[in-house]
Amino acid sequence: MSIEIVPLVEADIPGAVDCVQRSFADDPYFRWVFNLSKFNIERNSASVAAHFQYGINCKCPASVAKVTRAASDRKTDRDMMLAPGTIVGVAWWYPPQPLSQPQTWTVWAQDWLLSFKQLMNNIRFLGRGGLDVNRYWIWKRLQGVAHDTLWVDPRGYYFCNLLCVSSAVRGMGIGKRLMQEIMDKADQEGMPCYLESSKGYPNVAIYEKMGFELIDKIECAEAEILAL
Ligand SMILES: CC(C)(COP(=O)(O)OP(=O)(O)OC[C@H]1O[C@@H](n2cnc3c(N)ncnc32)[C@H](O)[C@@H]1OP(=O)(O)O)[C@@H](O)C(=O)NCCC(=O)NCCS
Repeated sequence: MSIEIVPLVEADIPGAVDCVQRSFADDPYFRWVFNLSKFNIERNSASVAAHFQYGINCKCPASVAKVTRAASDRKTDRDMMLAPGTIVGVAWWYPPQPLSQPQTWTVWAQDWLLSFKQLMNNIRFLGRGGLDVNRYWIWKRLQGVAHDTLWVDPRGYYFCNLLCVSSAVRGMGIGKRLMQEIMDKADQEGMPCYLESSKGYPNVAIYEKMGFELIDKIECAEAEILAL
């Protein structure tokens, strides 16, 4: 089996949504912010898809890891489950936003478009699909405080907003490959990178191997969110 890392395009959104939902099924933040007995996967798919479309429209750097298979490849049991074209990893970054520069009109308009789409999703699915709105806003507020405290570089940060790799292919270097292009770009530009993870183990060790260091922890009611 071989995996290619390619930019996220609209046609990949359903596969990327599926990869995210499977990868984060046991994630502490996901399990804290959603009431799982009320979780509506279709509502969640619509929401995650709207976010990916937002990322594409805002020209955020985003990539997917896709299964490819050369005719000569020997198939293993793992390959049999993963058809060519299956998306097995996703990375999505926000580019640096310098403190001195105001938000662009594109991002402002896309923010509104995303809010409108979410409103329509609320109507279409008769609610937020199990999202605990109170917990969501606790997290957003704490995240805002963390950024205000930790983002001390006025040039801004490459912010890895999302990284996931399907459980069947973890530990094969795919996460690192998904991160590499932007981390290399940041190194060339001398810019810092930042990410957050809600899973301490094993993610802290994984991110340390990628060159990140743990700089703070955010206690989020019952959940512990890590900022790296
Ligand atoms: C975090 C995640 C994206 C890592 O992806 P991955 O493809 O498994 O990672 P890689 O194989 O590229 O490993 C990167 C490095 O971490 C190391 N590593 C991988 N798994 C590890 C583990 N369980 N413990 C310690 N180190 C580990 C690898 O050896 C590699 O180091 P090296 O370059 O020195 O060899 C993946 O585990 C995942 O999707 N987890 C669930 C979703 C999630 O938590 N996402 C992160 C939210 S911020």
